[in-house]
Amino acid sequence: MKGIILAGGSATRLYPITLAVSKQMLPVYDKPMIYYPLSTLMMAGIRDVLIISTPVHLPAFESLLGDGSQYGMNLQYKVQEKPVGLADAFILGEEFIGDDNVALILGDNMIYGSRIERILKASSNLKKGGIIFGYKVADPTSYGVVEIDDKGKAISIEEKPKEPKSDLAVPGIYFYDNQVVKIAKSIKPSARGELEITDVNKVYMEKGQLQVIPLGSGYAWFDTGSADRLSDASDYVKAIELRQGTQIACLEEISYKNDWISKEDVLKNAKKYGKTLYGKYLKKIADEEVKSYSKIFDNELFKKQ
Ligand code: TTP
Repeated sequence: MKGIILAGGSATRLYPITLAVSKQMLPVYDKPMIYYPLSTLMMAGIRDVLIISTPVHLPAFESLLGDGSQYGMNLQYKVQEKPVGLADAFILGEEFIGDDNVALILGDNMIYGSRIERILKASSNLKKGGIIFGYKVADPTSYGVVEIDDKGKAISIEEKPKEPKSDLAVPGIYFYDNQVVKIAKSIKPSARGELEITDVNKVYMEKGQLQVIPLGSGYAWFDTGSADRLSDASDYVKAIELRQGTQIACLEEISYKNDWISKEDVLKNAKKYGKTLYGKYLKKIADEEVKSYSKIFDNELFKKQ
């Protein structure tokens, strides 16, 4: 499966911060925002990623992330001349996608939780159709909202409904089979003039091929496109990292765990980050045995007498 990060757009909700700076370069606590969606694709096991941004901002992403070889990845870049909608990603990415399946993640979305890696890996093994997520929110009216049956198949999907049919908002991460390129080319711009991802999802839904994975209370999802959410996401990352001495979206760590880079590569990368927590953390994970705790229930206390 290939991956695409959409990191363009206008970011008007963050003006004046984003008048001259790309939203997806802004810090979420101690890392540039784009690290978070990139880490999500990496956790899904996706190694080939296309980063799409504006003509002005794309070069900064290239200079930040390069060709991806430092993470054992293949990163490519593509300009989106105008922000004509999320589904444009599949048209711009047609050649990159080739005959593969593809995951799209929005450059301002952050998703985190203890079992997220398993869910992402399972999703990237998709054989047919599309997979989206459903995140329970108190007020769904400002999101795409999906209604599902008891097997998780989507039965209705609406963009910013006044009277939502469910409390499941759709986060900005989507897995599709190769049909998506054709589907994206077939949809028409909406009333606001954009190629809507909701319209792509509707096509899959009408074919009975849109699976929804509900994410319960053990997961955090932030759309960091407004000042409040950006600050919430920073606070969340700070609280977890400082309390647990761990790192969210540590790209070298994920790549090391995926066996894409060696211990020596981790240590080489660590040097770049000097005395920061990120740098110290990289040294620590390279020096330590990774404990999986996979046998935690495999002891006599849990065996029947
Ligand atoms: P939005 O947050 O919906 O739009 P925006 O970033 O332009 O922000 P605002 O509403 O404040 O003006 O976009 C979601 C993500 O998708 C974000 O990371 C930007 C990206 N995007 C593109 O790269 N190209 C596009 O055509 C659109 C619509 C969004």
